[in-house]
Amino acid sequence: MSKKIAFLLSTLGTIALLGAGCAKNSTTSPSAKEQIAPSITTENQSLGENNQITIKEASIGQDGWIAIHTKENGQLGDIIGYTSLSAGKDSKIKITVDRNKVTPSLVAMLHYDRDPKGAFESPGADGPVIRDQQVIMQEFTILNQGEIIKKVTPVTNTSPASYVGVRKEFIVTAKQWSFTPTVIKAKKGDTIVLKLKSTDVTHGMFIPDFNINETMEPGVMKTIEFLADKSGTFTYSCNIPCGAGHKAMSGKLIIE
Ligand code: CUA
Repeated sequence: MSKKIAFLLSTLGTIALLGAGCAKNSTTSPSAKEQIAPSITTENQSLGENNQITIKEASIGQDGWIAIHTKENGQLGDIIGYTSLSAGKDSKIKITVDRNKVTPSLVAMLHYDRDPKGAFESPGADGPVIRDQQVIMQEFTILNQGEIIKKVTPVTNTSPASYVGVRKEFIVTAKQWSFTPTVIKAKKGDTIVLKLKSTDVTHGMFIPDFNINETMEPGVMKTIEFLADKSGTFTYSCNIPCGAGHKAMSGKLIIE
């Protein structure tokens, strides 16, 4: 082989290598998506009233799923929500979960979508995505432990200057067919915080004078916060049919 040809071959080789390097970055390559490393990134978050959690980012080389598992005593538990994830990268992915099964820690996990496609089969065909013998998952914390926190806008157009009082917190328990306590007292200008819970069935908390109309689901602590921006004696009552004594479920809100 002459030196010229050898030089030419080595140059071609270099070009081929460069070409290979380019192909790796090319988005037109049919295998580009398959080369995407599977990953999932989550952040600690509160669970809102819509029962949705948000996955910060996820990527996968083929169509798959993101499943949310509970975690109890260090063990992975049931799947309480899932959504599909198309091949590629995505961010801010919303997943609805079963609120009643939420544990303080949850685990987001990538799963394959194997035949038949489009149906989530787990346990079954759609097992976890495994890369380098690792399941692709990340644990995160539900900061409010499934508690709902809501600020109620005052009925009247109240300026922040009206928030002159103190924060007064009350735990209000509903059960067939009464509220505890039956009288809530505060002063005008106070911020009233009601921590609502039901110990049996779904009840309501209805205080029309303060724009409050909330459901009280058993097992869910709901915190509502509102400004006592007027004085008087007001009624709060249950506005969800809850049985024979439903109409008797009421109490007094006294603002001095
Ligand atoms: Cu409780 Cu109606």
